Amino acid sequence: MEESINKSTLNPDGSEFIVVSNRLPVDRVPLDESDDGWRRSPGGLVTALAPVMATRDGAWVGWHGAPDEELAPFHHEGMDLLPVALSADEVELFYEGFSNSTLWPLYHDVIAPPEFHRTWWDAYRTVNRRFAQAAADAAAPNATVWVQDYQLQLVPRFLRQLRPDLRIGFFNHIPFPPPEIFAQLPWRREIISGLLDADLIGFQRASDSANFLRSARRFVGAGVKAGQVQFKDQDGNVAHISRAAPFPISIDASQIQELAVRPDVIARSRQIREDLGNPKTILLGVDRLDYTKGITHRLKAYGELLTEESLKVEDASLIQVASPSRERVESYRLLREEVDGMVGRINGQFDTLLNTAVRYLHHSYPVEEMVALYLAADVMLVTSLRDGMNLVAKEYVAARGDNTGALVLSEFTGAADQLKSALLINPHDIDGLKAAIMRAVNMSPAESGRRMRAMRRQVITHDVQRWSEEFLTTLQHEAVQQ
Ligand code: F6P
Repeated sequence: MEESINKSTLNPDGSEFIVVSNRLPVDRVPLDESDDGWRRSPGGLVTALAPVMATRDGAWVGWHGAPDEELAPFHHEGMDLLPVALSADEVELFYEGFSNSTLWPLYHDVIAPPEFHRTWWDAYRTVNRRFAQAAADAAAPNATVWVQDYQLQLVPRFLRQLRPDLRIGFFNHIPFPPPEIFAQLPWRREIISGLLDADLIGFQRASDSANFLRSARRFVGAGVKAGQVQFKDQDGNVAHISRAAPFPISIDASQIQELAVRPDVIARSRQIREDLGNPKTILLGVDRLDYTKGITHRLKAYGELLTEESLKVEDASLIQVASPSRERVESYRLLREEVDGMVGRINGQFDTLLNTAVRYLHHSYPVEEMVALYLAADVMLVTSLRDGMNLVAKEYVAARGDNTGALVLSEFTGAADQLKSALLINPHDIDGLKAAIMRAVNMSPAESGRRMRAMRRQVITHDVQRWSEEFLTTLQHEAVQQ
């Protein structure tokens, strides 16, 4: 594809604040559902940043989700959106390839084997340069640019080269692996140097930040002191100083709380329980259908509990929402087959004409339906093998305004650092997972109330608004210090 840079921006003076992420925060919808054919994507990031956009003349740079389509910049609900075009080849090589078949498995404990292909890397560089150019073209002098996530780790470097005046922040939404695993990446030096051109590099957990600093030391010889990283050029001069630190992301807690008390959402949650035959216990799993989420481990534990008759299908039902994701990537296709097969076997063995062991829903749902599911569920199961944060765990907690319900939470999630009153589990330990599920099912109201109150305090006082404010304030401060 021809290098297609959007020279035109909506704001001739340039924007003071720019967010750069792989996807724009909007989804295409039929014209009868919105005035301009777009709807704001669900999710905390856009909710947190939209007010900052409005007050600081903001713009958002990202891909609009369709291959081989050039779109002009457009305005949507108070945000300037600057679409970056990707060809069908680039979607395959940059998005499905390097981002989701190299970096994603590498950064998630190599649960699936990462693939290393030079053609994928070339596409990653080309596309990252294009995103950087779009941000450089749109930024006012001395503007702040906040780059999001693993698909765009070279953007800080390209952007610094194009616009040394900018204040650049980067936030990694997924884990950062230990150097012993990161070492496998043939382009490890380029990735670390790409990130080090940001003034502030944010991670979900303290361990991610520490992993990154160890890699910076080991692979590019950066000097590290108290989270500050000094990067020297080939002549030994300090080329740039940046800072790496944890900033655990959160949810729009008030949105979830408001929905959880809305009469129609409450009525829907009752309907869900009734549709399942009002079982004593509803267990719930909500994930993208991704091999990092430990869905097969959860099903194995649940199936064994039914086999051993610790749970009975008349009393318990598991709702598993598995939203479709990255369906053209082989490892995701294989996972779908495995999960389909497991669910089929469990239901074949335990269903009665009246009861279903696993309600398996391979769909995405609007947030209202998700909150109704959170309200209907007595036990929430989050069994990720590795997860940057896991916002579903936080949403469940935010929805439980009456302090009932129990959360079984994998210690391999970022959320486990904050939700210490959950029942923390190692999903590889199937017996331990089964014991935690039974403990959650039989938990006394006093104990679940005590645990839920502590978790709710954390989530409600640490929402996504606070997360973005803390990151941006620190970024401002770092840049001033240089
Ligand atoms: O950080 C993980 C992430 O990239 C999220 O931002 C996103 O919601 C999810 O994975 C799915 O991403 P995509 O469908 O763009 O591959």
